[in-house]
Amino acid sequence: MKNLTVINHPLVQHNLTRLRDARTQPQEFRRLLNEIAALMTYEATRSFAVKKNFVRTPMEKTTGAQLEKEIVLVPILRAGLGMLDGILEMIPHARVGFLGLKRDEKTLAAHFYQKSLPKNLTRCEVILIDPMLATGGSAVAAIDFLREQGAKSIRLVSLVAAPEGIARVRKSHKTLPIFTAAIDRQLNKVGYILPGLGDAGDRLFGT
Ligand code: PRP
Ligand code: URA
Repeated sequence: MKNLTVINHPLVQHNLTRLRDARTQPQEFRRLLNEIAALMTYEATRSFAVKKNFVRTPMEKTTGAQLEKEIVLVPILRAGLGMLDGILEMIPHARVGFLGLKRDEKTLAAHFYQKSLPKNLTRCEVILIDPMLATGGSAVAAIDFLREQGAKSIRLVSLVAAPEGIARVRKSHKTLPIFTAAIDRQLNKVGYILPGLGDAGDRLFGT
């Protein structure tokens, strides 16, 4: 599928397997999730535009490169927070916005409870972060809102994606780049990803 990247790097797959393991406790889960987020950042940012600049080394002047656009990270609360520090390690100069979304357990519809974004998104590269892409309701609500706020270049980084969630994002946002470490089999009857890793927020925060 166009603009869908599955990151098969051995370190990513190794960490993902440990995250899936039901025995992994919150402290280790948090560490692994940040680590895998940092690794995924290399792939997710590969196409960022750079402009040529010049730099004076202690020896002589040479050409260099500078990112063309400002970068804004937007984790979807809560679970997206689990990937934020890892990505910030790679892009410390990024600005950060927050979107709080909660799925209704019965209808699975996502509802906003927090919207806090930096200004002037139009010329920024926005990285939307959420470890789980299940029905896709949360991601689509977040992307729609980011677009309303003027964001033109948005990419989604989701650790585990269900085919249903990918299809939902694709229906509304045909070319939006999606980066994931795994496309899992399916959703269960109550909207959880199989095999998945369970409830990412609960596993992160021990709730
Ligand atoms: C989880 C997860 C995603 C969302 C994915 O969040 O972190 O944000 O579900 O599901 P969807 O694709 O069907 O919308 P949840 O609403 O459980 O909130 P939490 O992160 O606070 O636990
Ligand atoms: N949210 C999660 O945290 N896990 C799932 O499997 C689906 C939605």
